[in-house]
Amino acid sequence: MPHKIAVLPGDGVGKEVIEAAMIVLEKVGFKATYEYGDIGWEFWKKEGDPLPKRTIELLKNSSAALFGAITSKPKEEAEKELIPALQNKGLIYRSPIVRLRQIFDLYANIRPCKAYKGNPLNYKDNIDLVVFRENTEGLYAGVEFYPIPEELRKTLDKHPNMRKFKDMNNEEISISTRIFTKKGCKRIVKAAFEYAKNNGRRSVTIVEKPNVIRETSGMMVREAREISKEYPEIEYMEANVDAMAMWLVKNPEKYDVLVSSNMFGDIISDLSAQLVGGLGFASSGNVGKDFAVFEPTHGSAPKYAGLYKVNPVAMILASALMLEFLGEQDKKQAIEKAVGKVIAEKKVRTYDLGGTNTTLEMANAIAQAID
Ligand code: IPM
Ligand code: MG
Repeated sequence: MPHKIAVLPGDGVGKEVIEAAMIVLEKVGFKATYEYGDIGWEFWKKEGDPLPKRTIELLKNSSAALFGAITSKPKEEAEKELIPALQNKGLIYRSPIVRLRQIFDLYANIRPCKAYKGNPLNYKDNIDLVVFRENTEGLYAGVEFYPIPEELRKTLDKHPNMRKFKDMNNEEISISTRIFTKKGCKRIVKAAFEYAKNNGRRSVTIVEKPNVIRETSGMMVREAREISKEYPEIEYMEANVDAMAMWLVKNPEKYDVLVSSNMFGDIISDLSAQLVGGLGFASSGNVGKDFAVFEPTHGSAPKYAGLYKVNPVAMILASALMLEFLGEQDKKQAIEKAVGKVIAEKKVRTYDLGGTNTTLEMANAIAQAID
């Protein structure tokens, strides 16, 4: 049975890198039926929803999705770009990718950062780490208040540390909650250890800040300590997120699998990505129990849209992650090997690598390098 893949190119260069990924998926002999879905700015402007319901339905009927990139703009600007019939209706732009993670409970965000030999952008050549970012809770759960409802205020005021805010009224305070659950902590830590075990990784490092954020980070670290006992063969380490930022710059080769909550994972995965070439190389899998969405972590790059200039490697590596999720381990490895070969040869290079080749030339070179 061929796999059913939903393809969501989105905006700007999203369309171009999806085209590039398709060339490689075809060449590697991946058997699938593809159905394209609507997502992005165009649908926000025309329909007031960048993630239309029909797209959600399409995803419900797919085994996995490939997602290109989308444009997003701050609240006021977004409102202005709506067609007149949709203006002043209180429509609020919300990031489709964050919504997809919530709707489909894609709790594990997996972000490999590997230095391919010959990449002039590598910070060091021996980096090979994978960030596991919790993807549905924490600061991204969307439980925020402004102004603060009076009932909530009453409860909060019972906390001794609220004393310093006592002279401020509810319009002078905003609150974004950071909700962690035992279930959420357990499943992301477990996913990181399982990955480490199945991929012969040496260590798992939990990256949090329990010395200050005692309850949430504390819960996650406690769960991690427990789970680590089930994997005696894997070294378990703990780091505070601020120190981790320094160590990733100092000796990134020391780290292997990192696991963190949503916001901290967002930040350390950007830092890690830049160590191995940045946006052109950073791929990401948003993985749930039986569905997953794969994306490059770059945006839609409006200034490059239509130019076929950007590096498609991030999207191509994201497709490789999809193949792994679908049990096509050999095909995944074939793509990664081909990427490695093209980067090492230094013949075909997009602008970020100092070359002049186009997105599709890069994709074709990678396709040709597949044995
Ligand atoms: C990412 C991005 C997203 C996030 C944005 C686009 C909402 O930064 O995937 O890392 O914050 O998760
Ligand atoms: Mg990010």
